Amino acid sequence: MPLMKTDWDVLVEGFLGHLEELKEQGVRFLPVAPQTLAALEALSSKARPLPPPSRTRIDPAPALLLTPEKAQAAVARIEGSPVAPLVPGAANLSAVDQHTRAAAMAELRGRALVCRKCPHLAQSRKNVVFGIGDIHSPLMFVGEAPGADEDAQGEPFVGAAGQLLTRMIRAMGFSRETVYIANILKCRPDTPGQSFGNRKPTAEEMKTCAPYLLEQIGLIQPKVIVALGATAVEGLLGRREGISRLRGHFQDFRGTPVMPTYHPSYLLRSESLAVKRQVWEDMLQVLEKLNVPITEKQRNYFLKASA
Ligand code: URA
Repeated sequence: MPLMKTDWDVLVEGFLGHLEELKEQGVRFLPVAPQTLAALEALSSKARPLPPPSRTRIDPAPALLLTPEKAQAAVARIEGSPVAPLVPGAANLSAVDQHTRAAAMAELRGRALVCRKCPHLAQSRKNVVFGIGDIHSPLMFVGEAPGADEDAQGEPFVGAAGQLLTRMIRAMGFSRETVYIANILKCRPDTPGQSFGNRKPTAEEMKTCAPYLLEQIGLIQPKVIVALGATAVEGLLGRREGISRLRGHFQDFRGTPVMPTYHPSYLLRSESLAVKRQVWEDMLQVLEKLNVPITEKQRNYFLKASA
Protein backbone atom coordinates (compact mmCIF):
# COMPACT_ATOMS: atom_id res chain seq x y z
CA MET A 1 0.00 0.00 0.00
CA PRO A 2 1.47 3.42 -0.89
CA LEU A 3 2.52 5.45 2.13
CA MET A 4 0.46 8.58 2.79
CA LYS A 5 2.41 11.79 2.46
CA THR A 6 2.27 13.87 5.62
CA ASP A 7 2.13 17.67 5.67
CA TRP A 8 5.75 17.54 6.70
CA ASP A 9 6.74 15.46 3.65
CA VAL A 10 4.83 17.81 1.34
CA LEU A 11 6.46 20.83 2.91
CA VAL A 12 9.98 19.44 2.65
CA GLU A 13 9.48 18.21 -0.93
CA GLY A 14 7.99 21.53 -1.99
CA PHE A 15 10.74 23.50 -0.34
CA LEU A 16 13.47 21.38 -1.91
CA GLY A 17 11.76 21.72 -5.30
CA HIS A 18 11.66 25.47 -4.90
CA LEU A 19 15.36 25.59 -4.00
CA GLU A 20 16.14 23.54 -7.13
CA GLU A 21 14.15 25.99 -9.25
CA LEU A 22 16.02 28.94 -7.77
CA LYS A 23 19.32 27.19 -8.40
CA GLU A 24 18.38 26.62 -12.03
CA GLN A 25 17.61 30.33 -12.29
CA GLY A 26 21.12 31.13 -11.12
CA VAL A 27 20.38 32.04 -7.50
CA ARG A 28 23.38 31.02 -5.42
CA PHE A 29 22.65 32.44 -1.96
CA LEU A 30 19.56 32.86 0.15
CA PRO A 31 19.42 35.03 3.23
CA VAL A 32 18.56 32.94 6.28
CA ALA A 33 17.25 34.25 9.59
CA PRO A 34 19.74 33.81 12.46
CA GLN A 35 17.15 31.74 14.39
CA THR A 36 16.89 29.31 11.46
CA LEU A 37 20.66 28.99 11.15
CA ALA A 38 20.96 28.33 14.88
CA ALA A 39 18.26 25.64 14.69
CA LEU A 40 19.98 23.97 11.72
CA GLU A 41 23.34 24.06 13.43
CA ALA A 42 21.88 22.53 16.57
CA LEU A 43 20.40 19.75 14.48
CA SER A 44 23.58 18.95 12.56
CA SER A 45 25.92 19.15 15.58
CA LYS A 46 23.84 16.62 17.46
CA ALA A 47 23.45 14.55 14.28
CA ARG A 48 19.82 14.13 15.18
CA PRO A 49 17.26 13.15 12.58
CA LEU A 50 14.75 15.82 11.59
CA PRO A 51 11.80 16.12 13.93
CA PRO A 52 9.14 13.49 13.26
CA PRO A 53 6.35 14.56 10.94
CA SER A 54 3.30 15.93 12.64
CA ARG A 55 0.17 14.19 11.46
CA THR A 56 -2.09 16.36 13.49
CA ARG A 57 -1.27 19.95 12.95
CA ILE A 58 1.31 22.20 11.35
CA ASP A 59 1.26 25.72 12.65
CA PRO A 60 0.77 28.30 9.96
CA ALA A 61 4.21 29.51 8.92
CA PRO A 62 5.10 32.67 10.78
CA ALA A 63 5.32 35.87 8.80
CA LEU A 64 8.72 36.15 7.16
CA LEU A 65 11.23 36.52 9.95
CA LEU A 66 13.60 38.27 7.65
CA THR A 67 13.38 42.02 7.30
CA PRO A 68 14.84 43.67 4.17
CA GLU A 69 17.46 45.27 6.45
CA LYS A 70 18.58 41.90 7.82
CA ALA A 71 18.63 40.45 4.32
CA GLN A 72 20.71 43.40 3.11
CA ALA A 73 23.23 42.89 5.90
CA ALA A 74 23.38 39.14 5.30
CA VAL A 75 23.84 39.40 1.57
CA ALA A 76 26.36 42.23 1.86
CA ARG A 77 28.37 40.06 4.25
CA ILE A 78 28.34 37.13 1.85
CA GLU A 79 28.89 38.89 -1.43
CA GLY A 80 30.16 42.38 -0.77
CA SER A 81 28.40 45.36 -2.21
CA PRO A 82 27.34 46.49 -4.77
CA VAL A 83 26.23 43.14 -6.14
CA ALA A 84 25.35 42.19 -9.68
CA PRO A 85 21.88 40.92 -10.60
CA LEU A 86 21.69 37.15 -10.23
CA VAL A 87 19.01 36.28 -12.73
CA PRO A 88 18.34 37.83 -16.13
CA GLY A 89 14.71 38.82 -15.44
CA ALA A 90 15.76 40.84 -12.42
CA ALA A 91 18.14 43.25 -14.10
CA ASN A 92 16.69 46.27 -12.31
CA LEU A 93 16.60 44.69 -8.85
CA SER A 94 19.48 44.65 -6.41
CA ALA A 95 20.65 41.23 -5.30
CA VAL A 96 19.20 41.98 -1.88
CA ASP A 97 15.76 42.55 -3.38
CA GLN A 98 16.08 39.36 -5.40
CA HIS A 99 17.00 37.34 -2.33
CA THR A 100 14.25 38.88 -0.24
CA ARG A 101 11.69 38.15 -2.94
CA ALA A 102 12.92 34.56 -3.30
CA ALA A 103 12.71 34.02 0.46
CA ALA A 104 9.22 35.53 0.63
CA MET A 105 8.08 33.35 -2.28
CA ALA A 106 9.50 30.24 -0.60
CA GLU A 107 7.63 31.12 2.58
CA LEU A 108 4.40 31.69 0.64
CA ARG A 109 4.85 28.39 -1.20
CA GLY A 110 5.35 26.64 2.12
CA ARG A 111 2.06 28.02 3.41
CA ALA A 112 0.18 27.08 0.22
CA LEU A 113 1.53 23.52 0.20
CA VAL A 114 -0.07 22.72 3.54
CA CYS A 115 -3.23 24.78 3.03
CA ARG A 116 -6.48 23.12 4.17
CA LYS A 117 -8.83 26.04 3.80
CA CYS A 118 -10.97 24.02 1.37
CA PRO A 119 -11.10 20.68 3.23
CA HIS A 120 -12.74 18.86 0.29
CA LEU A 121 -9.90 19.90 -2.06
CA ALA A 122 -7.19 19.19 0.50
CA GLN A 123 -8.70 15.72 0.78
CA SER A 124 -8.90 14.98 -2.94
CA ARG A 125 -5.71 16.61 -4.27
CA LYS A 126 -2.47 14.79 -4.97
CA ASN A 127 -0.44 18.00 -5.01
CA VAL A 128 -0.89 21.69 -4.44
CA VAL A 129 0.00 23.37 -7.74
CA PHE A 130 1.60 26.58 -6.56
CA GLY A 131 3.16 28.10 -9.68
CA ILE A 132 6.34 27.92 -11.72
CA GLY A 133 8.82 30.09 -13.54
CA ASP A 134 10.89 33.20 -12.98
CA ILE A 135 9.71 35.15 -9.97
CA HIS A 136 11.37 38.23 -11.48
CA SER A 137 9.66 37.93 -14.84
CA PRO A 138 7.81 40.90 -16.31
CA LEU A 139 5.23 38.50 -17.75
CA MET A 140 2.81 36.32 -15.82
CA PHE A 141 0.17 33.91 -17.12
CA VAL A 142 -2.80 33.09 -14.92
CA GLY A 143 -5.04 30.12 -15.66
CA GLU A 144 -8.07 28.61 -13.99
CA ALA A 145 -7.11 25.58 -11.90
CA PRO A 146 -5.00 22.45 -12.17
CA GLY A 147 -6.37 19.51 -14.13
CA ALA A 148 -5.50 15.85 -13.59
CA ASP A 149 -2.01 16.11 -15.15
CA GLU A 150 -1.14 19.21 -13.16
CA ASP A 151 -2.45 17.65 -9.95
CA ALA A 152 -0.31 14.57 -10.58
CA GLN A 153 2.86 16.55 -11.34
CA GLY A 154 2.41 19.54 -9.05
CA GLU A 155 3.09 21.94 -11.92
CA PRO A 156 0.65 24.21 -13.77
CA PHE A 157 -0.13 23.77 -17.46
CA VAL A 158 1.65 20.50 -18.21
CA GLY A 159 -1.25 18.66 -19.91
CA ALA A 160 -2.42 19.13 -23.50
CA ALA A 161 -3.56 22.74 -22.94
CA GLY A 162 -0.30 23.41 -21.15
CA GLN A 163 1.73 22.14 -24.06
CA LEU A 164 -0.11 24.54 -26.33
CA LEU A 165 0.52 27.37 -23.86
CA THR A 166 4.20 26.44 -23.82
CA ARG A 167 4.29 26.70 -27.65
CA MET A 168 2.59 30.10 -27.48
CA ILE A 169 5.12 31.30 -24.94
CA ARG A 170 7.96 30.11 -27.18
CA ALA A 171 6.41 31.80 -30.23
CA MET A 172 6.49 35.03 -28.21
CA GLY A 173 10.24 34.55 -27.77
CA PHE A 174 10.12 33.42 -24.12
CA SER A 175 10.23 30.06 -22.38
CA ARG A 176 8.42 28.52 -19.42
CA GLU A 177 11.51 29.36 -17.37
CA THR A 178 11.49 33.07 -18.23
CA VAL A 179 7.81 33.78 -17.50
CA TYR A 180 5.75 32.93 -14.42
CA ILE A 181 2.71 30.63 -14.64
CA ALA A 182 0.07 30.23 -11.94
CA ASN A 183 -3.62 29.53 -11.50
CA ILE A 184 -6.52 31.15 -9.69
CA LEU A 185 -6.99 27.90 -7.74
CA LYS A 186 -3.98 26.00 -6.42
CA CYS A 187 -5.82 22.69 -5.99
CA ARG A 188 -7.60 20.61 -8.58
CA PRO A 189 -11.39 21.05 -8.27
CA ASP A 190 -12.68 17.71 -7.06
CA THR A 191 -15.19 15.65 -9.03
CA PRO A 192 -16.69 13.34 -6.39
CA GLY A 193 -17.71 9.96 -7.69
CA GLN A 194 -15.78 10.47 -10.91
CA SER A 195 -12.18 9.54 -11.60
CA PHE A 196 -11.93 11.90 -14.61
CA GLY A 197 -13.22 15.22 -15.85
CA ASN A 198 -12.80 18.78 -14.69
CA ARG A 199 -15.14 21.29 -13.17
CA LYS A 200 -15.04 25.05 -12.86
CA PRO A 201 -13.96 26.32 -9.44
CA THR A 202 -16.82 27.67 -7.34
CA ALA A 203 -16.97 31.34 -6.38
CA GLU A 204 -16.28 30.31 -2.77
CA GLU A 205 -13.16 28.31 -3.75
CA MET A 206 -11.85 31.18 -5.85
CA LYS A 207 -12.38 33.65 -3.02
CA THR A 208 -10.68 31.37 -0.52
CA CYS A 209 -7.64 30.78 -2.72
CA ALA A 210 -7.30 34.36 -4.05
CA PRO A 211 -4.90 35.58 -1.33
CA TYR A 212 -2.18 33.22 -2.60
CA LEU A 213 -2.35 34.58 -6.13
CA LEU A 214 -2.52 38.15 -4.83
CA GLU A 215 0.64 37.58 -2.84
CA GLN A 216 2.34 35.97 -5.83
CA ILE A 217 1.48 38.95 -8.01
CA GLY A 218 2.55 41.35 -5.25
CA LEU A 219 5.95 39.66 -5.01
CA ILE A 220 6.57 39.20 -8.74
CA GLN A 221 5.23 42.62 -9.73
CA PRO A 222 4.88 41.64 -13.39
CA LYS A 223 4.59 44.36 -16.02
CA VAL A 224 1.79 42.43 -17.73
CA ILE A 225 -0.55 39.61 -16.72
CA VAL A 226 -2.24 37.39 -19.29
CA ALA A 227 -5.55 36.01 -17.98
CA LEU A 228 -6.27 32.72 -19.73
CA GLY A 229 -10.01 32.22 -20.14
CA ALA A 230 -13.19 33.46 -18.53
CA THR A 231 -12.55 31.93 -15.09
CA ALA A 232 -9.14 33.56 -14.79
CA VAL A 233 -10.73 36.89 -15.75
CA GLU A 234 -13.49 36.37 -13.21
CA GLY A 235 -11.07 35.37 -10.47
CA LEU A 236 -8.70 38.26 -11.11
CA LEU A 237 -11.01 41.06 -12.12
CA GLY A 238 -14.40 39.93 -10.89
CA ARG A 239 -15.75 40.45 -14.43
CA ARG A 240 -18.25 38.02 -15.89
CA GLU A 241 -19.30 39.60 -19.14
CA GLY A 242 -17.74 36.97 -21.36
CA ILE A 243 -14.25 36.39 -22.59
CA SER A 244 -15.08 37.08 -26.25
CA ARG A 245 -16.03 40.65 -25.32
CA LEU A 246 -13.11 41.29 -23.01
CA ARG A 247 -10.31 39.61 -24.94
CA GLY A 248 -7.97 41.89 -26.83
CA HIS A 249 -8.56 44.82 -24.46
CA PHE A 250 -6.17 45.55 -21.62
CA GLN A 251 -7.85 45.67 -18.22
CA ASP A 252 -6.41 46.95 -14.96
CA PHE A 253 -5.59 44.87 -11.92
CA ARG A 254 -4.40 47.16 -9.13
CA GLY A 255 -2.21 49.10 -11.54
CA THR A 256 -1.00 46.11 -13.59
CA PRO A 257 -2.28 45.70 -17.16
CA VAL A 258 -4.13 42.43 -17.69
CA MET A 259 -4.72 41.02 -21.16
CA PRO A 260 -7.70 38.66 -21.19
CA THR A 261 -7.55 36.01 -23.88
CA TYR A 262 -9.05 32.62 -24.68
CA HIS A 263 -7.95 29.64 -22.62
CA PRO A 264 -5.61 27.27 -24.55
CA SER A 265 -8.07 24.41 -24.01
CA TYR A 266 -10.62 26.43 -26.04
CA LEU A 267 -8.03 26.72 -28.80
CA LEU A 268 -7.53 22.96 -28.68
CA ARG A 269 -11.26 22.41 -29.16
CA SER A 270 -11.64 25.06 -31.87
CA GLU A 271 -10.80 24.29 -35.48
CA SER A 272 -10.77 27.96 -36.35
CA LEU A 273 -7.50 29.56 -37.41
CA ALA A 274 -9.22 32.93 -37.01
CA VAL A 275 -9.53 32.24 -33.27
CA LYS A 276 -5.86 31.30 -33.09
CA ARG A 277 -5.05 34.59 -34.81
CA GLN A 278 -7.18 36.47 -32.27
CA VAL A 279 -5.19 34.97 -29.41
CA TRP A 280 -1.99 35.70 -31.26
CA GLU A 281 -3.02 39.34 -31.72
CA ASP A 282 -3.61 39.52 -27.97
CA MET A 283 -0.07 38.22 -27.44
CA LEU A 284 1.32 40.77 -29.92
CA GLN A 285 -0.29 43.50 -27.82
CA VAL A 286 1.36 41.98 -24.75
CA LEU A 287 4.77 42.05 -26.48
CA GLU A 288 4.21 45.67 -27.43
CA LYS A 289 3.30 46.55 -23.85
CA LEU A 290 6.53 44.89 -22.72
CA ASN A 291 8.49 46.85 -25.35
CA VAL A 292 9.75 43.61 -26.84
CA PRO A 293 10.71 43.93 -30.53
CA ILE A 294 8.40 41.93 -32.80
CA THR A 295 9.74 40.27 -35.95
CA GLU A 296 7.93 40.34 -39.29
CA LYS A 297 7.47 36.59 -39.03
CA GLN A 298 5.84 36.95 -35.61
CA ARG A 299 3.51 39.68 -36.90
CA ASN A 300 2.27 37.39 -39.64
CA TYR A 301 1.54 34.19 -37.70
CA PHE A 302 -1.90 32.79 -38.67
CA LEU A 303 -2.52 35.81 -40.88
CA LYS A 304 -3.02 34.30 -44.32
CA ALA A 305 -4.97 31.39 -42.98
CA SER A 306 -7.49 33.58 -41.18
CA ALA A 307 -7.92 36.15 -43.99
N1 URA B 1 -5.87 24.61 -17.20
C1 URA B 1 -5.63 25.63 -16.33
O1 URA B 1 -6.37 26.61 -16.29
N2 URA B 1 -4.58 25.52 -15.54
C2 URA B 1 -3.75 24.49 -15.58
O2 URA B 1 -2.76 24.48 -14.81
C3 URA B 1 -4.01 23.45 -16.48
C4 URA B 1 -5.07 23.53 -17.29
